[in-house]
Formats: sequence, C-alpha cells, structure tokens
Amino acid sequence: MAGQRKKEKKMNLSATEFAQDLIRFVDASPTPYHAIQETKRRLQEAGFQELKESERWFLKGRKYYAVRGGTSLIAFIIGSETPALYNGFKIVGAHTDSPNLKLKPNYAYTQTGYLQFGVEPYGGGVWRTWLDRDLHVAGRIVFRAPDGRLFSRLANMENVTVSIPGLAIHLDREVNENGAINNQTDLPAIVSLENVDSDTFNRWLLGPGLPADTKIVSTALSLCDNQNGTLSGFHNEFIRSGRLDDLASCHQAITALVNTEGSRETCVVSLCDHEEVGSGSAQGANGPFLKNTLERIAEMMGITNVSDFQRALSKSFCISSDMAHAAHPNHPRKEEPRHIIKIGGGPVIKWNADQRYATTDVSAAIFANVCDIAGVQYQTFVSRSDARCGSTIGPITAKELGIPAVDVGIPMLAMHSIREQCGVNDHFAMEKAFETFFSREREEITEL
Ligand code: CO
Repeated sequence: MAGQRKKEKKMNLSATEFAQDLIRFVDASPTPYHAIQETKRRLQEAGFQELKESERWFLKGRKYYAVRGGTSLIAFIIGSETPALYNGFKIVGAHTDSPNLKLKPNYAYTQTGYLQFGVEPYGGGVWRTWLDRDLHVAGRIVFRAPDGRLFSRLANMENVTVSIPGLAIHLDREVNENGAINNQTDLPAIVSLENVDSDTFNRWLLGPGLPADTKIVSTALSLCDNQNGTLSGFHNEFIRSGRLDDLASCHQAITALVNTEGSRETCVVSLCDHEEVGSGSAQGANGPFLKNTLERIAEMMGITNVSDFQRALSKSFCISSDMAHAAHPNHPRKEEPRHIIKIGGGPVIKWNADQRYATTDVSAAIFANVCDIAGVQYQTFVSRSDARCGSTIGPITAKELGIPAVDVGIPMLAMHSIREQCGVNDHFAMEKAFETFFSREREEITEL
C-alpha cells in the first residue's frame, strides 16, 4: 500500500515539480556512473530487481534491470504476452553521457607554482563555456588493497572547487574576435597552489574509510560543473543545467517506466553510454548490450528458437530519445524556415533523408499517434539542406536489431555547452508520451 501511495503521488506531479525532479536527477548525476547509480536507486524504490549479467536469469517477477560497465542500464517490465505471439518489445532509448573534460591517466603535475590536472576532451563540447566556471572532480576510482584485491568506487569530490581560468583580455586583445581554444594548452585545470603534500592529496582521492596504504591503480575521473540546475524565465518556463543532453531523456524514460503498469508487450528502457563518441563500446548502443538483453528476456519468457525471437523483433518498436535543437532567436539563418522548432512547442520528431535519423513515415506516424492519444502537441525537425545533420542512437538501434525506430527529443538551446537550456512543459509532455507508449497497445498500420 505504501508503494501504491508513493506511485500515485508521483503520477500527480505538476510540470514544474517534474522539472524540479529532473534537476535533482541531473544534480545527482555528474558522470554516467552517477546517473546509473541514481537510476538504480529510483528503480529499486519502484520495485525493480537487479539481474546480474554473469548469472542465470529466472522469471520470478515482472520488473527488472541490468547494468553493463557501470554506465549503461536496461530496465524492463515483462509483458503479459509472449513477445513472439504479440507486439514484441516496446523500447525507449537514450544516452547517459555528455561532453566533458576527462582527467588524463597521469593527470597531476605542477607548473609555475600551481597544481594542475591535465585533461582530455570527451565528445564535442563547447569548451570555451568551461572557462571561468566552478568545477569539481567526479567519476570512478579503482584501488588495490594491501592484500592485492582490486575494488572500485564512485567519487564525487565536491569539497574541492577547481577551475580553468581564461586569459585576461589585456594579454589577448583579440579574444572576442577569435577566441579559439587549444585543447592541449588552454584546458588544463588549476587545482591549487603547488604546496599540497602528496599524502594530503592521496587521502583526498582515496576518500573516507580506506587505509592510507591503499593504492590507486586507475581512474575514470572527469571535471564537472559545480552549479546545480535551476528553473528560469518569467514564468519559470525554462530548465537551465548541465548534461540535459541527454539526461533529460533518461529521466523521462525511467519515470515513464516507473509510472506504467506495463502492457501486453514487454516495455524496455535502454540507457547507454558513449553516444557522444559514436556509441561503439561494450556498453554503448553500437555494442551488443540491448540485443543480448532482449535475447535473454525472450529466453526467460520461453522463446528458445531463433525464428520466434526474430518474430518478436519484427513486432517491436523503438523510440530513440535525444535532445533536439530549438531555433535560436539570435541565429535565424541556421534554421530550415518551414521547420522552426520552439521551446514550449512539445516533443520533436527528427527527420533526415540520409538516415542520420531512423525516422520513417511509419515510425513517425506511430509516435505522432502516441502524442495525439496522450494529448501532447509535437513538432517536426529537418536540417537545412546546406547544413550537416547530427545523428544519435536511433539509426544504430535500427541497424543492430532491424526494428523500426523513430528519433525524437525535446527542444533545447546551447546543446553541448556546460550550461544548456530546455523547456519545463516539453519535458513533462515527453514523459506523458512515453507513458502512453508503454501503457497502450501499439497500433498496427494497415496497408491498403
Ligand atoms: Co545527445
């Protein structure tokens, strides 16, 4: 009963409360490791159980999740019908990573009286937005205990603020005209004056509770923005935060899954790392994680032959959700004039003739229909024909699994800046669309 009440409360969130919940989610997720930790916490609270990939899976309940590499997660609610006999899998995909500055393996050095961290850019960030911000270090650290055992733990070292100060304009008079960033020489962070003794520094990295002779073997640490997300605008209609691309989609997808009771089809949320660098990794969307997991779900549900699994896939559908570009009022010439995307105009269906988005006439119609049923207004995006189009996980999923997919996302400004901006109502509307997608039987399109 307590769970029931909690769920009812969740479903009654207003758009503003839901945006505040997104801000809590993003603030708790400085890195993909933390995003998965926070997602697991929310799933466990909603009664989902973890399945370890190294163990055998048995169907005892309906709500499960599996994690790969600490940065990707697939959660699902088993459908009441065997996938081969009904509509297969209903999938919503999103990505957990965002562009950031990763600490190099030998990151700490001193120069001109400062302790500095060398960094390596990850993904296509707008690096000039990282200058003169309050940053901190977060990620995962692998240790070796004195007895030789290896173990890892997440780190979120908010107690030390670091920075990448820009050069004074007096020493770079043309900075406003040509402020190009050299990734090697302009981005190393300043941590402190160099008078930090190595014991103090090691203790800081080890964190509490570990013996001083514990050795740090390797790290996956990043610089992260210190500033929490906030609502902005006259009516608090905007959300401003780092990492909205694509943690906003992760938040919509996971909330929708938690808020649904499931359906006859099996509902799946796939949150993958490494999209910003092409998705090609063991846990990325271009790796086998989703296919492996769908095969194992099918096996748990009694499908043991290839053709029945293929039948299930042929009846499946994937919504790939990644942020979309809103038209920028200061840059009107960047937009396709008959596809002007507005913050507040609702979720965006993304089209590209060269299949850089997976959207087809049929998959767009299925998503548009979901929006109509959910009472959600939607918009349609296509790039200018003289501009290069981005891409995302939709085409990869379609290519890997051979299932139809639609690329969607909510509109935003300043994509890949350290501080991005999207709309409160769009975020709420997309969650409603995903809930409708998960709860309702999917319409078939009849060929005439
Ligand atoms: Co993205």
